[in-house]
Amino acid sequence: MRNFLDILAKRRSIYALNDQLPISDNEVEKVVKQAVRLSPSAFNSQTSRVAFLWKKEKEKFWAYVKELLQPLTPKEAFPNTQKKLASFAKAALVCLFFEDVDIVASLQKQFSLYADNFPIWSEQSSGIATVNAWTALAERGVACNLQHYNPVVDEKAAKEWHFPSNWKLRGQLVVGGMIAPAGEKEFMADEKRFKSFGI
Ligand SMILES: Cc1cc2nc3c(=O)[nH]c(=O)nc-3n(C[C@H](O)[C@H](O)[C@H](O)COP(=O)(O)O)c2cc1C
Repeated sequence: MRNFLDILAKRRSIYALNDQLPISDNEVEKVVKQAVRLSPSAFNSQTSRVAFLWKKEKEKFWAYVKELLQPLTPKEAFPNTQKKLASFAKAALVCLFFEDVDIVASLQKQFSLYADNFPIWSEQSSGIATVNAWTALAERGVACNLQHYNPVVDEKAAKEWHFPSNWKLRGQLVVGGMIAPAGEKEFMADEKRFKSFGI
């Protein structure tokens, strides 16, 4: 196995995507499912949910986003938005990441001492599951970028794909083949970021 840090470095935001995946569609779903299963969650509550939208379905999703964003976007900014959305639609699929808010609410009831923390932990779990899926895909040579068109698209998506009302959309992982790699990444100075004591 490659060094874990090398795999982490391979996960980047790739925006130039096509629908030519280096592994099969089924393998992509298998990788995402296993990454989400293996991701930790508060009290092992397993609140993350995922929907895979392929082919016509992902095109429908991005068409909905465009339709819903148009009235909310300044006219002069919309061509850019439209270009961006068209690039997402050219990818192979979009993975919608949700959190099950019913589980969060029931944990709040059950463990009132931590009531305020459960929604925060749910957000953290969602981030962990998403980035684990993203990194596991990157390890297989599959490229992704992460988008957040929630809550604009929530209602329309729930209606179209019959998502349960307790599935709260948290992010959209756009997945495809890499046309061009990400640019150089800048890192802030370690001394501003880390403190070490007693080593
Ligand atoms: C919580 C979170 C939210 C993000 N939201 C978006 C987003 O809405 N749109 C987008 O293009 N990138 C989004 N990103 C990607 C970041 O911009 C990106 O990870 C960062 O610039 C570092 O680049 P890298 O992913 O190539 O390492 C998000 C990343 C995180 C962790």
